[in-house]
Amino acid sequence: MSKIAVLTSGGDSPGMNAGIRAVVRTAIYDGHEVVGIRDGYCGIFNGLFEEMNLSSVADIIHRGGTILGTSRCDRMEREEGIEKAVEILQENKIDLLIVLGGDGSMRGALELSKKGIRVATLPATIDNDLGYQEESIGFFTAIDTITEAIGRIRDTSSAHNRGNIVEVMGRKCGDLALYAGIAGGAESILVPEIPMDLEKVMEKVKIGKNRGKRHHIILITEDLIDAEDLAKKVEEETGVVTRVTVLGYIQRGGNPIIKDRINASILGEAAVRSIKDEKTAVALGIYKGRVRTIELEEALSIKKEIDLGLYETMQILSI
Ligand code: F6P
Repeated sequence: MSKIAVLTSGGDSPGMNAGIRAVVRTAIYDGHEVVGIRDGYCGIFNGLFEEMNLSSVADIIHRGGTILGTSRCDRMEREEGIEKAVEILQENKIDLLIVLGGDGSMRGALELSKKGIRVATLPATIDNDLGYQEESIGFFTAIDTITEAIGRIRDTSSAHNRGNIVEVMGRKCGDLALYAGIAGGAESILVPEIPMDLEKVMEKVKIGKNRGKRHHIILITEDLIDAEDLAKKVEEETGVVTRVTVLGYIQRGGNPIIKDRINASILGEAAVRSIKDEKTAVALGIYKGRVRTIELEEALSIKKEIDLGLYETMQILSI
C-alpha cells in the first residue's frame, strides 16, 4: 500500500474534478491511501493535506472548477521553495504526487522529481499547448463554450450588419481559436503560430460585405494584437462597423463536456497505475486516441505545433 497525493495547479480547466475523482477512486480500488492537497502547490507549504475517501469525490464528475482549489505558486519557481516542498512531501510520506495542470505545473513537478519525489502529471489546461499529447483536459469544453458564444455574437452581428472581433485565451497556442473557428464558422482567425496577414482579413470582410453577408467574425488569440485597434482598422478599411468581445474567464468555467470527463477519468486511472512504472517522473496524455505515458522531462521538451491541415481546412471553409 502506497500513499498518493493529488493536487490541481495553475489555471483551472473543466474536467479537473473528473480527474481528481478518477485518481481517488482508482487509488482506493487498488488499496492505496490517498490525500488531496488544497490550493495547488501553495497547499503543500500551508499544510493543506486532507484524507480523501469515496464520498469526498461523490457528485463532482460533472462540475467545472476544481474541488481542491488551485493557485499559481511563485514559491515553486525558487530553489528554496522546491526544497521545502520536497521536505514537506517526504514528512507526509507521499509515495506519488499526481499533479493536474498545464506546463508551468508540470515544470514544478519535474523539479520535485529531481529531488526525489515520484510524480505523475495530467495535462489539464484549456490551452491544449502541450506538444506530447493532443487532447488536454478542459480543451473540448472550452471550444464548446467559445463556439456557443460565437453563435450568439453572430446573431447580434447579423441583426446589426456588423463585424466582431472575438478574443479567446490560449497564450502562445492557437488551438482554441483554430478549433472554435472551424466549429463556429468564423470568417478569419489569427493565431500565434501563423504570421499575421491583416490584408487577407480585410479582403475577406470586403468580399463578405459585397456578397451581402451581415456578419464577419474574426477570432483572435489573446496577446497577439490589440483587439480595439484591429476593430478600428477593419472599420476604416472596409466600412463595416466592428465591435470587440473578449471572452475571458467564461472559457474556463462550466460543466465539462463528455470528452473531457472521459479523458480525465482514463488519465486519472492511468496516473495512479504509473506507481508501478520504473520511471519516477511521468506525463500522461491522450495521443492518437490512446493514453500515452512518457518521461516528464521529454514531454516538456516536445514543442506544440499547430495542425496545419486543420488551419488549411479553416481557410477553405471560410471563403
Ligand atoms: O493557461 C490557461 C489560461 O486560461 C490562459 O489561456 C490564460 O492566458 C491564463 O490562463 C490566464 O491566467 P490567470 O488565471 O492567471 O489570469
